[in-house]
Amino acid sequence: MIPKEKIDELREKLDIVDVISSYVPSLRKRGKNHMGLCPFHSEKTPSFTVSQEKGLYHCFGCGKGGNVFSFLMEMENISFGEALKIAADKAGIPIEAGQFAKAQNSASQATNKLFTIMELACKFYEGSLDKIKEYLDERKISDPKSFRLGFARDGWDNLLNFLLEKGAKIEDIEAAGLILKKQSGSGYYDRFRNRLMFPIMDQQNRVIGFGGRAVNNEEPKYLNSPESAIFNKGANLYNLGKAKDFIKRQKFALLVEGYMDTIACCEIGLDNSIAPLGTAVTSTQAKLLSRFTKVVVLAFDSDAAGLSASERAQEILEEAGISVRIASCQGGKDPDEIIKKLGKEAFIKSVQTSIPATEFKIKRVLGRFNIKEIEDKVKAAYEIAQFLSKEKDNLLQSEYAKFAAKLLNLPVEEITAAINSRNNYQKGGSNLKRAIPKAPSKVKEAEKKILKLILEWDEALSKIKEELTLNDFNQYKGIFEQIWTIKNNDILSSINNESDAKVLREIALSEEPLSNKDQMLKDCISSIKAFTIQNEMGFIRESLLMAEKNGEEETVNELKKRQLYLNEILRMLIR
Ligand code: GTP
Ligand code: MN
Repeated sequence: MIPKEKIDELREKLDIVDVISSYVPSLRKRGKNHMGLCPFHSEKTPSFTVSQEKGLYHCFGCGKGGNVFSFLMEMENISFGEALKIAADKAGIPIEAGQFAKAQNSASQATNKLFTIMELACKFYEGSLDKIKEYLDERKISDPKSFRLGFARDGWDNLLNFLLEKGAKIEDIEAAGLILKKQSGSGYYDRFRNRLMFPIMDQQNRVIGFGGRAVNNEEPKYLNSPESAIFNKGANLYNLGKAKDFIKRQKFALLVEGYMDTIACCEIGLDNSIAPLGTAVTSTQAKLLSRFTKVVVLAFDSDAAGLSASERAQEILEEAGISVRIASCQGGKDPDEIIKKLGKEAFIKSVQTSIPATEFKIKRVLGRFNIKEIEDKVKAAYEIAQFLSKEKDNLLQSEYAKFAAKLLNLPVEEITAAINSRNNYQKGGSNLKRAIPKAPSKVKEAEKKILKLILEWDEALSKIKEELTLNDFNQYKGIFEQIWTIKNNDILSSINNESDAKVLREIALSEEPLSNKDQMLKDCISSIKAFTIQNEMGFIRESLLMAEKNGEEETVNELKKRQLYLNEILRMLIR
């Protein structure tokens, strides 16, 4: 890999118009930009636009676009690295291969040291595995070797001394998270003592961390490695390296909560089992998983904590485009226990008969109420409406509404009405976003102008962040979400999906003049804020009607207060 600074330097030095001209002879200056006939699709009038100043090209006809490197890649049908080489030649910057290699090495040398230390530690722990044979038997783990399980013997410095003997440096062992500084005096001691060791591997099956389980009743039950340069708990999954091929082949992943559960599942042939690393499932893990499969079966613990963890995981996985199914874990606390108590067939069956997460949720609500009684039935309906109102897919929402209506023995219109009224009930901006009506063109235009301002004016973003939140945006919300998290100022090359990048390029290359930026920004912010407020007022009006009908006096007062307040703000904004 070539360091990012080098790439940026190269991009700044190269004149994109020079490079593209040699492929697009028709390129001519028109206003601020250059235009010519697109080399990527056939056209008679030029819609291929190049901005010298921004280092960008974009075809308003076919939508292709990017920077000088993507142009070369597309034109010559070559890799990014090859494009860099051509670009460096053109710019007259000799690629000092050695220098690039060096820059890359110093970073990877540091992580390589950690990988080496972790591997040594893993082997060391594996060497003592026979010392906890009894515990493994008790837990019925028949093939500990295939998970490279090990044992950290009791004692303060077994691993430390071993690694020092092998030539590892104290600071590297500490950076790997394997030793801790003594609180009093000087020196270090082993982090893991008297524990069954589960090595955690990355996708290339390199050891990046450990989970250590107490073998008697010591606290904490599990001790995990701290994060390090190579161990990121939110970005890896236990057993993914081994499971990923099975996941692809079986077209689903079985996500469980614990290391023990993963192993127990694998031992009965469910080789597509994985688990988070002692934390809640993250969106990074969800995105990672979505590269291998679009279906995840959750088999979390059956207690209340497991159920709520399962619901949170469901939301995060669904956001990554994954369909979530639930295997009901009846008859034991977790998959490991079910397998041991009821046998492997029982558990495999619960995986095979998993049901969609939303269906599971509906049934769970029904189970808590006695729907033969009217009041309970209505409560159940409201509760179901509450989470169905969050379903973004309209077809799924209406199908589940029908499903729930049938189970509740209610007309589906009632559920639909409840869903809509639930939507309205949700006060406080963040929950309102789902049901917001389409933004009028004035608001869309304001969002577009704001994007233009951000692209052209360094101070714009911080000013906008002071005045607006992500929930204020509609049309370009996805783009703003990305911009909000970009840490450098090169927004155009930090956008990670082509359709958003395309929108931004078009805005960046549009010729609209920006005069009086301060005033323009103020006007745009006012239009957007006014729209947010008008939306909330709409919801409040409907909620008021509902609350008045139900005689909920407190809610009525609260809503009226909010209404007055919003009215005031709105008056100031549109004055
Ligand atoms: P067993 O009790 O050995 O069957 O473990 P389990 O796999 O059933 O674990 P459990 O359901 O209790 O916890 C699930 C996961 O949460 C574990 O695999 C750990 O990653 C993590 N975990 C559990 N207890 C602790 C703890 O005390 N501290 C930390 N940091 N993590 C824990
Ligand atoms: Mn367990």
